[in-house]
Amino acid sequence: MDTVVHETEGDFGPRDWAQHPPYLSPLYKSTVLRSPRKPLIPMKQGLSVRSGPVFGQDSLDPLDHDLTKNGRVNGEPIGERMIVTGRVLDESGRPVPHTLLEIWQANACGRYVHRWDQHDAPLDPNFFGAGRCLTDAEGRYRFTTIKPGAYPWGNHHNAWRPAHIHFSLFGPSFLTRLVTQMYFPGDPLLPLDPIYNGVPEGARELLVSRFSIDVTEPVWALGYEFDIVLRGRQATPMEG
Ligand SMILES: [Fe+2]
Repeated sequence: MDTVVHETEGDFGPRDWAQHPPYLSPLYKSTVLRSPRKPLIPMKQGLSVRSGPVFGQDSLDPLDHDLTKNGRVNGEPIGERMIVTGRVLDESGRPVPHTLLEIWQANACGRYVHRWDQHDAPLDPNFFGAGRCLTDAEGRYRFTTIKPGAYPWGNHHNAWRPAHIHFSLFGPSFLTRLVTQMYFPGDPLLPLDPIYNGVPEGARELLVSRFSIDVTEPVWALGYEFDIVLRGRQATPMEG
């Protein structure tokens, strides 16, 4: 089945759908049921679409960006401590300042704090697995967290998700809303993953973070860089 995708035009350029996964990706089983059967209906870019939502600094807790601290009960979370940082850019390559990023992820053993996650791996009492922060004036963000583990997901025989961190961004408008996943370089599960491979070749590589010895802090944490482009030809792909 082909799905014809229409896109709004106006202040923002149309999305380049060669950059994003199709709604229907048969190897990713749940898309077979949830993908649209009819062409999408184009929407006008009214004021309510082009503006907001806006989040202020005062709505964030000082520990929200540090997942090694925001879920502590009685000690340190277990696993490989890491820093994830990068810039959020608009379709012209300009930094997007003071914009909200939210992340969520499995713990080091590949288990989420969620009642639907019944993977036979331990929960970590000191790791909640979610955080958020705002970009600074240069569009830069930074999280401290624990490297997530791979987990089985039942899509097909012996299916394991590569280690990943979920990202949600709002940007300056509903038209810049982006939900995606960040991966790690050299992960042997990437070539086997239908979600990663559902993203067009040439674009999926944008979802793989870069290890950085400059971001790495001595005797503390490994560093990874992950830049995010909200729209345009270099847009970070959405998740499938
Ligand atoms: Fe996940």
